Formats: sequence, structure tokens, C-alpha cells
Amino acid sequence: MFLLRAAEGPRWMAVFLLLAALCCLFSPVVMVKHENFKTCEQSGFCKRNRQFADDAASSSWVSPYALDPASITFKDGQLAATVLKTLKEGEEKVRLPLIVTFLESGVARVTLDEEKRQKGDIILRGDSKARKERYNEASNWAIVGGLDAATGAALSAEAEAGYTKVFYGDGGKHQALIRHHPFSIEFQRDGETQIKFNDKGLLNLEHWRQKVEKVEKVKVEEKKEGEEEKKEGEEENKEQEPQGEDESTWWDEAFGGNTDTKPRGPEAIALDITFPGYEHVYGIPEHATGLSLKTTRGGDGAYSEPYRLYNADVFEYELDSPMTLYGAIPLMQAHRKGSTVGVFWMNAAETWVDIVKTKSITNPFSLGLLGKTDTETHWISESGIMDVFVFLGPTPQDITRQYGELTGFTALPQSFAIAYHQCRWNYVTDEDVKDVDRKFDKFKIPYDVIWLDIEYTQEKKYFTWDPLTFVNPTKMNEHLDKRDRKLVAIIDPHIKNTNDYPVIDQMKSKGLAVKNKDGNDYEGWCWPGSSMWIDAFNPAAITWWKTLFKYDSFKGTASNTFIWNDMNEPSVFNGPETTMPKDNLHHGNWEHRDVHNVNGMTFHNATYEALLERKKGEIRRPFALTRSFYSGSQRVGAMWTGDNLAEWSHLHASIPMVLNQGISGFPFAGADVGGFFGNPSKELLTRWYQAGIYYPFFRGHAHIDTRRREPYIAGAPYTEIITQALRLRYQLLPAWYTAFHEASTTGAPIVRPNFYIHPEDENGFAIDDQLYIGSTGLLAKPVTQEGADSVSVYIADDQPYFDYFDYTLYQGAGHHTVAAPLEKIPLLMQGGHIIPRRDRPRRSSGLMKYDPFTLVVVLDKDGNASGTLYVDDGATFDYQKGAYIHRRFGFDGKRSALTSIGLGTKGTKTDAYLKAMAKVRVEKIIVVNAPSAWEGKTEVVVSEEGAKESARRKKVAFEYFAKDGKKAAWAVVRDPKVGVGKGWKIDFS
Ligand code: GLC
Repeated sequence: MFLLRAAEGPRWMAVFLLLAALCCLFSPVVMVKHENFKTCEQSGFCKRNRQFADDAASSSWVSPYALDPASITFKDGQLAATVLKTLKEGEEKVRLPLIVTFLESGVARVTLDEEKRQKGDIILRGDSKARKERYNEASNWAIVGGLDAATGAALSAEAEAGYTKVFYGDGGKHQALIRHHPFSIEFQRDGETQIKFNDKGLLNLEHWRQKVEKVEKVKVEEKKEGEEEKKEGEEENKEQEPQGEDESTWWDEAFGGNTDTKPRGPEAIALDITFPGYEHVYGIPEHATGLSLKTTRGGDGAYSEPYRLYNADVFEYELDSPMTLYGAIPLMQAHRKGSTVGVFWMNAAETWVDIVKTKSITNPFSLGLLGKTDTETHWISESGIMDVFVFLGPTPQDITRQYGELTGFTALPQSFAIAYHQCRWNYVTDEDVKDVDRKFDKFKIPYDVIWLDIEYTQEKKYFTWDPLTFVNPTKMNEHLDKRDRKLVAIIDPHIKNTNDYPVIDQMKSKGLAVKNKDGNDYEGWCWPGSSMWIDAFNPAAITWWKTLFKYDSFKGTASNTFIWNDMNEPSVFNGPETTMPKDNLHHGNWEHRDVHNVNGMTFHNATYEALLERKKGEIRRPFALTRSFYSGSQRVGAMWTGDNLAEWSHLHASIPMVLNQGISGFPFAGADVGGFFGNPSKELLTRWYQAGIYYPFFRGHAHIDTRRREPYIAGAPYTEIITQALRLRYQLLPAWYTAFHEASTTGAPIVRPNFYIHPEDENGFAIDDQLYIGSTGLLAKPVTQEGADSVSVYIADDQPYFDYFDYTLYQGAGHHTVAAPLEKIPLLMQGGHIIPRRDRPRRSSGLMKYDPFTLVVVLDKDGNASGTLYVDDGATFDYQKGAYIHRRFGFDGKRSALTSIGLGTKGTKTDAYLKAMAKVRVEKIIVVNAPSAWEGKTEVVVSEEGAKESARRKKVAFEYFAKDGKKAAWAVVRDPKVGVGKGWKIDFS
């Protein structure tokens, strides 16, 4: 507020106005257009359910849902029953089939449907061809396993009257306590309640009803005369008192000039899920928020909107906001010391999630010391059945594994895909591409992949090349292939609606496009102008899509061409909320409303399938990037966080976003390095590269209006510093690849937040600006502040941590200041790990294939360390037949020996692969925190399995470097000449 004294007024005002004008000139006014996206208040079903929650908050509220005990059956790990919804006393109750399945994995699944709709016993309004059922096919897209019912699950005989109790999970340690009236479920672990359904009474399944015109009695009588005009199935005008419910958004809903007709009327499904004693909840990406989710019903520092999941192309998205973004994973985990639990709300329709935290004092005299916080969540979806999985942990690793067993683990990518990607909108000609490629080489900057955005096409017709600018794509690919580099080309789901374009002709004639509500091909607006959208829900559309990617069909592509799927929310420039009308129809006549959030994944799936079949006999792991995603997308490729801004705040926000992807089962994630919109300062660009090397998916990208910013452009000292950062990524590729392998077999995130590694450390539960790389113990804290020359790194435990570069020791739980001048990347190594790397700088990762390894052994406080390494051909699926090397390295402090032992089982291709890798050795072993007893030592003894007698116990040179101030003692074995695929032992005693 300005309080101006009269005399100073005009002068100050002039200065103020001048400043304001200057601000406008220099800081680009970039702001999301809020008016294009609904708030909860503007979304009928969200508003209704929030109102429902407010009404239910009154003490007299009783949930109108009751389980009919006579209906309960229990067989083969599955409880079935009918839940009855009471409308008004005396009225027929609504019948809701309930199924609770207890899975072998210890997970429970609860589904609730609506009998009338299930039986198709409803009347659609208008002439709609939409399906009558509640959408029940999300599982077809999301779930790939883990559904075996528990043979050991059993009904308990001892439940109190009015309750049904089921024991399940390992040794029956889980219990589901189902209350009949009102209906609710408590999920318990070892007798303690972890998760409650409908504890607040917010279960609300909007049952089908026929539209009743609320007209005055006189009017009804007038109408009676013309009754014969009524068609069968059309709403009747009945004499009816208004029911008092707000029906304004039941039958149609207008927003931003579009009207959504709702042939099935209101059909939302909502439920409250409470996590008693849990203060932190994480997950439900994608939002530009911190990792620990905020509360959403107003108040200090809280949001006033629920987190929204409705995949959308949100132009210039804002930070610290629960607004929806491009993808949706409705998995939430709740965490407290000693326990992590979670729920997966498998619904594909628009969903909102409210979060409220309440503090209860268990002992009024304790002054809050024993107070505990409950997190209450409220899930609201527009349509579909209720289908929820319940995970009872108790560790964060249990959640990611069990969720991964259901929805699939991250696909193991080709090794190039985890190296550096160079993109911009656009490299404008094939010569331009080659030129950029040569410049990377000239400046000795490693990179693996160059990308083509939409301008490579002829007038935005995918599967074509602009003949004037991309004259010889084949030659371009050959050029890239010389250094084992790849090309990624963009292919979007909107197909240009124009003449002389066989792709649109085929799509139309085969009937493979998404339809509008009248059943005609839906036409909307996107990059090419008038467009139509492939309906990848249709198996026939996938079959057709595959044909388009064959090398002889998409001419100019080669085995080193891969694909980028963008705009698959889908983005429709003239559609409601920049997407498709909800009453559009997909394969099987499901409304777009029902399937919206899985739409992007179906398209991404189709592209993945297509990449598998480009040429007979050529089977390579596909690489396809997607912008839109759902639970299961991790099986197919990578995602990025869309159109961010070249601002420090966006760099900062990218870290929790990428971490959240990791704990939510889709860890192959990254943000546009440098920021998409705007021109980053050289400092920001440099810091962004230094942070980007820690994104599992690492790509520089920029908007068409920005200046070129390839790493070699910035000049001294920036180019050199960025190159060092890139080299660090390349040096650590073996550690990254091992982390990807772990993600692909256990569901563990590739980069991990503090709570995931230290689940007992309460002080670290909200920390989301630093990350651990896989299981390597590498702890990175990217600099995200302008002008910073140090960072504060949080250490959770009492292990020693060492600076990656100079071995400076940091120890003790709490914050530590680590110097971070521009040329420095704060990176620590937690004691107790062995980190694999490859130290020879190369131009691309492909050229490192047969390079030797370095192992960095970082001893913990007891002098021990261990770590793993996974290597395979980085391209084919032969690893599934045993063509890989998987080793565990262990340093035993008591014996002073380092060993390598094999993990995994032999397959038909193991021997051939080991033969191919026979010459690949470990060329250097560095031991950090080396014991002082080694001082003066000059040799170690190396023995390798299968070595000739003469070489069985060979002596190898060793050098010891004593502790130097804060820098830890270290030692190096220069060339032990041991094979990376072999068993061996190095004796340091
Ligand atoms: C979208 C993408 C962006 C891309 C642009 C042109 O905005 O998010 O990455 O460059 O479309 O294809």
C-alpha cells in the first residue's frame, strides 16, 4: 500500500508509473489464461460434491449408503455385496454392486457400480449413441498384472454385529473392516487403522434419473393436450414439486462458449479417503507443486481449489498451483514415520481431489505433543465406476513395487535414451541438423539425439517431409548414424483435414477418427488448422497406425529414427478447455468424458507398438516421448513436463515435479532444459544444464520464437561449464542405466526424494529440492537461485557424505552449506555405496559401449560399501534372454576386500553376450574414506575367476592419499585388469 503525503503525491506517482511501465517493458507478461480452465465452482460435478462435503460436515449427517448384509457373498478372495443408497424415505433404494477383491500381493481393490446403468436399464437423452454403462474399462489400459486374488483371504467369524471383517495380506496382517450402516471400510495393518473409506460420509454416487421438467402445474396441463408429440424415451413433463437440488449442471453444462450435452445426466462418483495419523501425502501428478501436497480448502498457505486431474494443454502454466496439467496419475501415498500407505483411484474421467488436514489432540493435557494429524482427502470424478486399490505398505518401496506390479514397471529404455537430447522448435533444414551435429563435435560436447519439431513436415502433415527444407532425410540419418546418434521426429495425434493427404483419407475411410456426439468424424483445430483425431482406443486404429511407421511408408526414416508424441491430451485449440468436447464418442461408443485421462496413453501405446514393427526381424526397444500420460504410460516411454518458462522459478519447480513422477510410477521424466518460453540468461541456462543432468529424461528444448541456445553458443566460460555438466552425465551413465534397470524390475524411482530413502526421518518428509540417484547414494542439490554461490544440502542420517569431486566430508544430520560457484555442481556421495562410471569422454553414449569402467567405493562409517552395476547391449530385448551383466560389488571393511559377484540367472543369450564383453574391464578403483591403516601400502592382490594359474593372485599397484583437512583419505587401484562380467576379489589387507 502506498501512503502518500500530499506534496509528494504527484512526484512519487510519476516515479511509480514509470517503474510500472518499465516493468511491463522488461518482464514478459506470461500468465496462464485462468478463464480458459474451469475452477471447481465452474465444474458442475465438482461444485455439487464440494457442496455435499459442506453439508456432510454437520454433526447430524448420516451417509445414505448402507450395505445389505443379506447380500454378502465371499469366495476366492472376493467379497461381493450390494450397497443401497437411500433417496427419500419410502422411495425405492438405488442398488450399487460392490466388489472387494483381496489380492495375493496384499493390495485390496474396491469397486462400486450402479446396477441400473450396468444393466443398460436407462434412457439416454436426445438421440445419443453413447454407452449406457458407467465406464469400466480403465483397467484394460492401466492394469497389466498383480490381480491374482489372495487364496489366504478369509472372512472373520468374530466381527461385531453390523460389521464384516476380512483378514488378508501376508499372514493375515491386513484387515478390512466393513461397516454395514452407514457403509464404510477401514483398512488396518497389524490391528491399526491406516486408511478409511467414507468415514466422513462423502460417498456420493450420482444415480441415474430421468430428467423431470420442473414446470408449473398450469403448464403441465396445457402440455397434456399435445401429449402425442412426445417420442418414446424422451423426458416427460410431470407434475412435480421442485426437489430443491441444484440441477443447473445435470443435463447440460456450458463453459467458454461450448455446451456439453449430457445424455446420461449427472453421474459423478465421489468418496472421502482418510489417512489417520498421516501428515504428508504425495503423488497425483501432474501439478506444478511441491512434493508434499498442500491442503485445498483455503486458509494460510493453502490452496482454495482441489487438485485437478484433467489432462490439458495449459499454455504458460503457473507454479505452486493445483491446476491441472498434461497428464494424470491418480495414485496418492500417505507417509508418516514408520509407515507409508496409498490409494490408486483408477478412474479415467475428470477428477478433483480435495485435501484437508486435521489435528487431533489425543491427550488434552499434552499441549499437542501427542497430537496427531489426519489427512482427509475427497476424490471426485465425473463419471465411471468407483475402482480403488488400497496399499498398506508399510514402506515407500512397497507402494512403488505393488503399484508397478499392477500398472507395469518402467520400460527399460535403449541406452541412448538416457543420454542427452538436443531439441528445439525447430531445426529448420537437414543441413541445419548436420550443422548442429558438427558443432557439438567441434566443441567436443557429448550428445546422442537431435530432435525435429513440427516444421519438418510438409504443411504439418505428419509422415511427410517438407521437400524444400528436408531434401534428403535419409542422408541426414546416415550422417547422424556415423557417431551412433539418433533422430527423434514429432508425430501428433491430430491429422490434417485436407485434400491430397492419404493419411487423412485412410483414417476417414476406415472410420478410425474420434466421432462427435452425432457419430460423425469430429473436426477441430490444431497446428495444421482443420484436423481430425485418431481414435487409438480402437484396435483397428492401432493396426492402421502401425502401417504408417514402416520404413517404406514413412520414407526417410531409419532404424535410428524415434518418435515424439505431443498434444495428446488431446490439445484442440478451439475445443472446451483446449481439448475435446466431452460428448465426443470413442470406439465402443464411450463418451470422451469417460476416457479423457487415458486418451493420451492410448495414442502413445499405439506409437510404441508401431515402433516395434517397422521392419520384419528388426526388434529394438522403442523410444517414444509423450506429453500426456496416465497410469501405465511408464511401460511405453518417457514424459516431459511440457511448456515451462525460461525462469528460475520454473527451474526450481522442475525438481519436485520430476521427483513426484518418480514416486508415482512414471520416473522416466524431465523438464525442458533452459525453459521452453523465453530466453534464459547464460547463468540460468548453465544452472539448468547442471540440474538437467539429474533428470532421468534429459533434453534441451526451446520455443520457435527464442534465440538459439545450443550449449556451444553461450561462449566462455558457460560453454565449458555446460560441457563439464554433460560429461558428468555421460560419466555416470552406468549408474543411471543401473537405476533404470532397477526401476524396470522393482518400480523404484530413478531419482528419489529424501523421504523415500530415509522414511524414518521426519525432518526430511517435505524436502523436495534435492535428490538421490537410484540406489547409488549420489545426492544432488541443483542450484536454482540466481547468483547463488552455495547451496544448503540436507543430510538425513549420520553417515559420512563426500563431495563427488574432491571428497570433502560432510557429516551429521541437518543442513550443510556446500560451495556452488557457477562451475560447481553440488553432488555428494553417501558413505556405503559403490558407484560405477565410465571416465572416457566420448561424443555419444553409443561410442562408450566397450569402454572400461571405474568403480568409486565410498566407505561408510563402519568401513563397508556395496553397489550394483547392470549392463546390456542397450538396444535389443536380448536381455530378456540373459544377455546382460549384473554384478554386486561389496567392500567388506573387516576383511579389507572388494568382491564382484554375479546377480541374475543365465539365459540362452548369456554366453554370447559375455563373450562380446570379455575385453571390457574395470580400469580403476577409487576408495573414498580409505582407512589410515593403508598408508604406505603400494600393492593390492587381485584374483579373478577363471584366470590362469600364473595370474591367479596378481599384485597390482596401489596409491594412498592421506586425509587433507576436510578432504577424506582416498586410495586408487590403477588397473586391476579385472573383467566387468567376471567374479573377482581385490585384497587390500
Ligand atoms: C507444444 C509442445 C512443445 C512443442 C510445440 C510445437 O507446445 O509442448 O514442446 O515444441 O508444441 O510442436
